[in-house]
Amino acid sequence: MDKLKITGGRPLEGEVQVSGAKNAALPIMCAALLSAKPLALTNVPRLRDVSTMARLLAQMGVAVERSEHSTVLHAKAITDPTATYELVKTMRASVLVLGPLLARCGEAKVSLPGGCAIGARPVDQHVKGLQAMGATISIEHGYMQASARRLRGARIVMDLVTVTGTENLMMAAALAEGETLLENAAREPEVLDLARCLGAMGAKIEGAGSDVIRIQGVRSLGGAEHRVMPDRIETGTYLAAAAAAGGKIRLTGAAPKTLDATLDKLREAGSKIIVTESSIEIETARRPVAVSVRTAPYPAFATDMQAQFMALACVADGTALITETIFENRFMHAIELQRLGADIRLEGNTAVVRGVERLQGAGVMATDLRASAGLVIAALVAEGDTVVDRIYHLDRGYEGLEKKLGLLGARIERIA
Ligand code: UD1
Repeated sequence: MDKLKITGGRPLEGEVQVSGAKNAALPIMCAALLSAKPLALTNVPRLRDVSTMARLLAQMGVAVERSEHSTVLHAKAITDPTATYELVKTMRASVLVLGPLLARCGEAKVSLPGGCAIGARPVDQHVKGLQAMGATISIEHGYMQASARRLRGARIVMDLVTVTGTENLMMAAALAEGETLLENAAREPEVLDLARCLGAMGAKIEGAGSDVIRIQGVRSLGGAEHRVMPDRIETGTYLAAAAAAGGKIRLTGAAPKTLDATLDKLREAGSKIIVTESSIEIETARRPVAVSVRTAPYPAFATDMQAQFMALACVADGTALITETIFENRFMHAIELQRLGADIRLEGNTAVVRGVERLQGAGVMATDLRASAGLVIAALVAEGDTVVDRIYHLDRGYEGLEKKLGLLGARIERIA
């Protein structure tokens, strides 16, 4: 069952609950490696990537207990500080085990993530930071072999803003000797959520959520309970779907404060948006107006929302410029959107999208997680049936996508 059949043309109506954030759950699960005591997590999304991370940690000797949306991770002893290529190649975020393993065990063997559909995605900043903290890292047979007696705090100025890079170094620094200063750190809310979890475990971290993070290393960390923050990208995806398809939907269990850039753009497109502390309601009465976006690190417009906004631009009134500044090859969905009748011209890292009145259903292929989400949005507004192939990409990052869209009145089913 790896295709989705969507019959477009119906506005969305109703209410759904947002899941826990994939990009917060993954680093937080890795934080369990830093302590011999259990880490109990709630609001953990049921996703393929979360299962992959659980398997990866289990291979290292971590006891993993999962129930519906809770996970308890207990790294009493780490038997094998290795992340094999077989798992790392399916999920780049596996590199997040590097910092914690090194800090806890003094050694780690982690496969290089290798190429990826959306660009080269190197890990040089992770390596550079850990080296500054005293680690020796060599590359052998496609693996990063890292060792250190005890990591030492250091002042690290990152050359560019990297989310998992910041998270890896923050986790390593939590157990290092002395103080670490991370400058030009990523300000993403998921970094802050990880810092909160580490804080509950006993780490001394200040400034997470800003571009300078100060970490005072401690000897050991304890157990903790932590609730994973809501998924802002999942939230934004349903909002963009509702803006494209029209209608009125309400998302509960959300974190509106993490979505400023997205909400601003949706208002600019003509949707009416009402937020409370934890819910967002969006009402779209007419065809959206074209809005241009330019991706950049948080708090600017997220690259993980780019494909969804390209889909919105495809049916908007006017021409939108969609500029991607984070990843060099993140326009694969443009070609698939063209198959649905979209008018898109690529000029370097900008897509010039001229909105058309109507898209038409067709067979399309998902190429990566967020590209797939863009295709689903386009399918919801296209006339007739669209079949999206290779939806395993969607299962990596969207919990119960067809169930949730079904609750909102979309005609959507999983087919073989
Ligand atoms: C995270 C998110 C991903 C999102 C991305 C950008 C997780 C698990 N994933 O990915 O969904 O699309 O942030 O918001 O949180 N770079 C280097 N050297 C490095 C590290 C990164 O050159 O050592 C470059 C990358 O190639 C890219 C840019 O920096 O061009 C940003 O990447 P980064 O923030 O690291 O992305 P991820 O953390 O992998």
